[in-house]
Amino acid sequence: MKGIILAGGHGTRLHPVTLGVSKQLLPVYDKPMIYYPLSVLMIAGITEIQIISSPDDLKVFRKLLGDGSWLGISLSYAEQDKPRGIADAFLVSADHIGDDPVALVLGDNIFHGAGFGTLVHRAARNVEGCVLFGHPVRDPQRYGVGELDERGRLVSIEEKPARPRTNMAITGLYLYDNRVVEIAGKLQPSERGELEITDVNRAYLERGEATLIPLGRGFVWLDTGTHDALMEAGQYVQVLEHRQGVRIACLEEIAWRLGYIDREAFHRLGRRLAKSSYGRYIMEVAESG
Ligand code: DAU
Repeated sequence: MKGIILAGGHGTRLHPVTLGVSKQLLPVYDKPMIYYPLSVLMIAGITEIQIISSPDDLKVFRKLLGDGSWLGISLSYAEQDKPRGIADAFLVSADHIGDDPVALVLGDNIFHGAGFGTLVHRAARNVEGCVLFGHPVRDPQRYGVGELDERGRLVSIEEKPARPRTNMAITGLYLYDNRVVEIAGKLQPSERGELEITDVNRAYLERGEATLIPLGRGFVWLDTGTHDALMEAGQYVQVLEHRQGVRIACLEEIAWRLGYIDREAFHRLGRRLAKSSYGRYIMEVAESG
């Protein structure tokens, strides 16, 4: 399965913070935002990942993450010259996807919870149709919203409905079989001129091939879309990391635990950042683990 991180957009809800820098490069406590969605794809076992962003921002993503070899994975980059919609990602990345199934994660989505990696890893095996992940929220009208029947089958999907039928938001992690490229290619732009991910999901739903996995209370899905939400996400990560002494979305640690890099390489990555607590954490884990 191939992976895509969509990391473009204008970040208008975070202006003026995002006037000079891409939203997905902003810090969420101790690391850039994009580390979080990248960690999700890595723990799902995906090693070929493409990052999509605007031509200007791609330069910075490249500087930050390179070709991924330091993590034992392969990272490539593709340009979206302007935000044409989330589903445009499948057209931009068609060559990267090739004949494979694909996982798309939005570059501003943060997931956390015990067993999340195993859950996604399992769901990513033999994807037929599409697999969505739902999370209950207080303000579903801000998101794609899914409705399940009493047997847990997905029966409707709506994008930012004024009167949501449920409080189950559809998160920004999506798994698809290879037909998604063809489906995205046939979409018409919505009223706001974008290729909507909800239209892709609805196409699968109409064929009876869409599944929604509800993430229960043990999982956290954090928003970074407003100044307050971004601050709260940072505070969540800070509290958890301080209390537990472990880091969330530490890419180097994930790469080492998955066996993509050896202990010596892992330690070296920590030494490179030794003046920060993040770097010292890596060195400590490498020395004790
Ligand atoms: O976060 C989950 C939600 O993401 C879903 O519940 C919605 O169904 C889905 O439409 C989306 O809603 P948003 O309002 O968050 O979408 P937004 O336009 O803000 O785009 C999400 C991210 O994708 C954002 O970081 C910018 C990036 N993006 C977006 C578009 C439209 C791009 O890189 N290129 C684009 O063309």
